[in-house]
Amino acid sequence: MQNVFPGEVFANTADFDTGIRQLLPRYDEMLEVIARCVPSTSQRILELGCGTGELSLKILNRFPDAQVVALDYSPRMLQFAQDKITAAGYQQHWTGTQADFGDWADNPEKFDIGSEFDACVSSLAIHHLQDEIEIKVI
Ligand SMILES: C[S@@+](CC[C@H](N)C(=O)[O-])C[C@H]1O[C@@H](n2cnc3c(N)ncnc32)[C@H](O)[C@@H]1O
Repeated sequence: MQNVFPGEVFANTADFDTGIRQLLPRYDEMLEVIARCVPSTSQRILELGCGTGELSLKILNRFPDAQVVALDYSPRMLQFAQDKITAAGYQQHWTGTQADFGDWADNPEKFDIGSEFDACVSSLAIHHLQDEIEIKVI
């Protein structure tokens, strides 16, 4: 049986998109608000805990020329997101990386994602961290 990481919510990844909307009826509105908060000049956008890629997709629909770098520690969530982003035609604008973002924040040099981003977004994910993380804003 596959490991279910904290935050995956559903044992079957294919249930996430429908199930999360049943749990959180205003889920789409929440993601739209996050996407609207991203400055329009953003070229490189970091997403922490991308899950099935719903927020990445909303951001790319809004900023189709941007590059989104998406971290998630669950390989099957990342795969689901990758398939969705590819089906939408944004595969050149999205890079999924399997990583614990707490580990990345503590040891950014370990990960090959660069360190400069114009915006960082996250939804329903960072509360799964047990310790404080510090993300340096330059
Ligand atoms: C509830 S889901 C939300 C997914 C997506 N952001 C959304 O709003 O639909 C939380 C996601 O964060 C991921 N996650 C939680 N803690 C994480 C960590 N420390 N590092 C990487 N991914 C993490 C989980 O694997 C899961 O995909």
